Amino acid sequence: MKDLFTVLEHRATCRNFKTDPIPMEVLERLLAAAASAPSSGGFQNTCAIVVTDPEKKAALAHLSRDQAFVAKAPVDVIFCVDHRRTARIAAMDKAPKEPQIDFSQLLWGFTDAVISAQTFCLAAEAAGLRSCYNGNVIQQADELCRLFDIPKYVVPVIMLSVGYSKEENLRLSKKYPWQLMTHWERYSDADDETLQTAYAAKCGSERFPITEKKLEKLRDTAVRYHGEEWAQACAEQVRQQGELSSFQYWLGCFYSDKAGDMDAAAYLKFFEKQGFAVK
Ligand SMILES: Cc1cc2nc3c(=O)[nH]c(=O)nc-3n(C[C@H](O)[C@H](O)[C@H](O)COP(=O)(O)O)c2cc1C
Repeated sequence: MKDLFTVLEHRATCRNFKTDPIPMEVLERLLAAAASAPSSGGFQNTCAIVVTDPEKKAALAHLSRDQAFVAKAPVDVIFCVDHRRTARIAAMDKAPKEPQIDFSQLLWGFTDAVISAQTFCLAAEAAGLRSCYNGNVIQQADELCRLFDIPKYVVPVIMLSVGYSKEENLRLSKKYPWQLMTHWERYSDADDETLQTAYAAKCGSERFPITEKKLEKLRDTAVRYHGEEWAQACAEQVRQQGELSSFQYWLGCFYSDKAGDMDAAAYLKFFEKQGFAVK
């Protein structure tokens, strides 16, 4: 086992897993670590759904914008908000618990589920495993509930694909310096030059050659978000650069594609169905 700071310094997302299974005693230890995480009020209103069945993993891969590694990883774990356990115990205990749970409890539940997932992630790294988070589960939460019999009072939040990496040394992604991400005593904006320098250091080496498809997607997003004039200025900047910048690609082309995702109204309807008060 590695010490925590060594784990933190070497942690990197893995998207290329060996098919080797994770020994059950190792998996159980990671799940125990996840269950030991701090939780709001100490209620542990979270759960983990462990998925090893190849057909179910394939369905998860499909739901996650066809990311094939999700099916190849030996295990996918879906971390959820889970008030069902507490509600059932409260009912037996004749302890009052609101039938439609406060929205703030949903937010706390999300926090708890993420803390639990990250505890699992770091424990996995310490045990020589690697993982990849997957945010698509929240965008496809209703479909996931159908696939995994997820009942009322339970909401999927985040998934980890986990396994042994095919690559020995994973490339560490560049990060902003911690100083840029820290404010002392009060929030204070860094100046533009500091931001530009940090952005260039983190993302400047990424290359996104211009293609018709990317230009079209970027333009479509720019018009939707900021209007025609702004979109023309954006296109002009891309032309001058001779390529798309990192943010132009990721924000303008990749993450702007919401096809198949729930919109805000659908989320509220879904949360209400799962037993959370949204009004
Ligand atoms: C909430 C969340 C959702 C993510 N979803 C995906 C995903 O769907 N596919 C993927 O390949 N990586 C996903 N990632 C991994 C990020 O891309 C990765 O953490 C980021 O690029 C930084 O790289 P690093 O983890 O190696 O430091 C996700 C990470 C988080 C925290």
